[in-house]
Amino acid sequence: MRNRPNLIVLPGDGIGPEVIRQAVRVVEWFAHRRGFDCDIRHEDFGAEAYRRTGTFLKEEVLADMMTTDAVLFGAMGGALEADPIPHEVRRRWGLLRVRKEMDLFANLRPVKSLPALAAASPLREEIARDVDLIILRELVGGIYFGEPRGIENLCDGQRRGFDTQVYTSSEIQRIGKVAFELAGKRKRHVTSVDKSNVMKSGALWRDEISALGAEQFSDIALHHMYVDNCAMQLIRAPCQFDILVMDNLFGDILSDCASMITGSLGMLPSASLSAVGPDGHRRALYEPVHGSAPDIAGQGKANPLAAMLSLGMALELSFDRREDAKLLEQAVELALNTKRTADLAEAGKETVSTVGVGDAVLAALHQLTA
Ligand code: NAD
Ligand code: IPM
Ligand code: MN
Repeated sequence: MRNRPNLIVLPGDGIGPEVIRQAVRVVEWFAHRRGFDCDIRHEDFGAEAYRRTGTFLKEEVLADMMTTDAVLFGAMGGALEADPIPHEVRRRWGLLRVRKEMDLFANLRPVKSLPALAAASPLREEIARDVDLIILRELVGGIYFGEPRGIENLCDGQRRGFDTQVYTSSEIQRIGKVAFELAGKRKRHVTSVDKSNVMKSGALWRDEISALGAEQFSDIALHHMYVDNCAMQLIRAPCQFDILVMDNLFGDILSDCASMITGSLGMLPSASLSAVGPDGHRRALYEPVHGSAPDIAGQGKANPLAAMLSLGMALELSFDRREDAKLLEQAVELALNTKRTADLAEAGKETVSTVGVGDAVLAALHQLTA
């Protein structure tokens, strides 16, 4: 049994290294100031690594990711038009493979509106205020992984592209269980999102979630919502939600959409978790919801708060340091009162660089613990 907490850090591509550097400064701060004696190991992962070394991720690193306490990941992907890596290579060796091999089926994407950002959301203040919801995205099934998939040539000279949306009852039940359990610790309300009026996999999703709710979680309120309505409701009245559970593709799309409740995609953290194994270990990968943002990479413009808050989720969920996670959230809020990156620019607030926001959060941590 190890006794030092372990963290594997994969900065990745584009803005990944810039934002992850600021999250690592936070780990270092907690090490010096709060006795978080964590063993940090940096490794290559991503399209850049592939270009340089011919490998996305070393096999031995992936093996260690299976047993480490937590992985902190930045982002993956090159500029869309310039990325020469074949789709199939990226699929086979990239982020999707990691999620699948680590069986990280439960992806928590919290969306919380902060008072400091009340005027930063494109939504009116009275709509964006007091939102505290989690998009719980199923992460290792559905159309992302279903077979068959491909592009084939037809006799008439056309090409035909196809993917398969597929869920089994056990895959739906295990993500549903996480949804009800999370809701039990919060506002006791699950909204299950599907397209059961059109899709067979959606009809099964609704059946299984209903049965699970009735049989095991009758004390938790359950509502079903079609995904198209949900996209609208997230903008109309996001306060109505507590836990939103949905499939892989819907969760991908609605989380980017919901990020604007906070004011920026650069604010949304995430945690991807496996089940707890027989040895009590739960595999975990923490990453911002945003991608590698090639349009701003290398310019010091990226908002590092999603990465820093992802580290906060690791403090709470993998390192059992809830107090430290709370402290970090408070420091983020305090920093936002005066300084932001350009994505959250607002009159009267200073626009600073990625590092400037990191500095502001560290200063706020000092201030809160002085
Ligand atoms: P993206 O999330 O990288 O960027 C979308 C927009 O949001 C861009 O205008 C970008 O500048 C902005 N943005 C994103 N993060 C920001 C931050 N922290 N601060 C300020 N602005 C931010 O999505 P995209 O442009 O569609 O994709 C770019 C690449 O990233 C693609 O290769 C895609 O596959 C990949 N991607 C990776 C992940 C991941 O690694 N988890 C997630 C999404 C996209
Ligand atoms: C995300 C990303 C990924 C996804 C891509 C990079 C494969 O958009 O984590 O939201 O679609 O899951
Ligand atoms: Mn996405």
